Amino acid sequence: MTKPLLEVHNLRKVFKKADGSQHVAVDDISFHLETGEIFSFLGPNGAGKSTTINMITTQLTPTSGTIKIAGRDIRTDPINARRKIGIVAQYNNLDRGLTAFENLVYHGRYFGMTTQAAEQRANELLADFGLSEWRQDYVKSFSGGMAQRLKIARAIMHRPQLLFLDEPTTGLDPAYREILWDHVLRLNRQQQTTVFLTTHYMEEPERFSDHVAIYQQGKIRALGTIPELRQLVPAASIVYATVDAVTAPLLQELNQQPFIKEILQKDEKNLAIFPNTDDQILQQVLPIFEQQPVKLENIRLSFASLDDIFVHVTEHPTEMEVKAHA
Ligand SMILES: Nc1ncnc2c1ncn2[C@@H]1O[C@H](COP(=O)(O)OP(=O)(O)OP(=O)(O)O)[C@@H](O)[C@H]1O
Ligand SMILES: [Mg+2]
Repeated sequence: MTKPLLEVHNLRKVFKKADGSQHVAVDDISFHLETGEIFSFLGPNGAGKSTTINMITTQLTPTSGTIKIAGRDIRTDPINARRKIGIVAQYNNLDRGLTAFENLVYHGRYFGMTTQAAEQRANELLADFGLSEWRQDYVKSFSGGMAQRLKIARAIMHRPQLLFLDEPTTGLDPAYREILWDHVLRLNRQQQTTVFLTTHYMEEPERFSDHVAIYQQGKIRALGTIPELRQLVPAASIVYATVDAVTAPLLQELNQQPFIKEILQKDEKNLAIFPNTDDQILQQVLPIFEQQPVKLENIRLSFASLDDIFVHVTEHPTEMEVKAHA
C-alpha cells in the first residue's frame, strides 16, 4: 500500500487566553488522507478547524503531535511541505499592495512557474473567476466576494498536490461556487490533487467528499464515508414531512406510535421522523397526518442527510466513536 499523502498523529494546540487560562483548541487528533481523496472536516464555529489547517500548512506551531506530508515531517522540511500545498485561508490574506494580476503571478513565480506560464494561467483564472476587467486594480478596492474569488484563483495557480479550502464558498454566489468546484474537481481528476475542505454548507461534502470527519471541541467525533456515518443515526431512512405548522398534538400523536423511534423538529414547519422499520413506513405515517388538523405540504422517505447526521453526532457526542480511517 502506498503511504498516505498526509498523516496527522496526536495533534494538539493549546492557546493562552487573555485572562491567563488555557484553551485546548485541538485535542489530540489523528487521521490520514490518501492521495487523490476529497476530505471534509465539518464542525461548529470554534471547533478548531482553522487551527488544524493552520498547523498542517505550517502557519502555526503545534503544542504537540506530528504532521507528515508525503512521509516527511513538516517540522524538518517545512519548505518542501509548503511547495506541495495550496491554501484558501478563512481570512483575507491577499497582498493589498499588489494588483489582482500581480497577486497571482508572484504566487506562481514563488512556486517555480516560469513568468510566461504564470502570466498565462493568471489570465485564464482571472477570466474564469470574473476578474479580467479588474486585473490591474489593487485588491484593497475589492468587494468581499471578489477577494474570495482571487484567493481561490491564487490557491490553485500552481496546481498544488494538496489543497486546503477553509470555508471557500462563504461569500460566493452560486455561479462562482460551481466554478470553484469545477476547477477543484478538474485538479482532483487530472492530477490527483488531494482536497481538505471545511464548510458549513452540507451539500458540498454530500456531493464531493470521499470521507467526512465531524469535529467538535477539538475532537473528531466521527469519521468515515457518508454511508458509514449514516449508521450512527437512529435510522438510515428518514421520513421528512413539511406541514403548515407543527402542533403539539401532532407531535404527541407521532410520539405514541410504536414504529417511530425518534422525532426531530427541524423548524416550525419541518419534521424528521426516524422510523423503527423500513416496512411500508409512509403508509403507516400518512394516516396520522390525515387525522390531524394540519395541512401536509410535502412528505418523502429518504436516506439521512449529512445535515441530520451532523446534528445527531454533535448533539450526542459521548455515544460516538471514530468509525474508520483514523
Ligand atoms: N490565536 C489564538 N489565540 C487564542 N485562541 C485562539 C486563537 N486562534 C483560535 N483560537 C481559539 O481556538 C478555538 C478554535 O478556533 P478555530 O478558528 O480553529 O475554529 P473553527 O472551527 O475554524 O471555527 P469557524 O467555523 O468559526 O471558522 C476558538 O475557541 C478560538 O477562539
Ligand atoms: Mg475557521
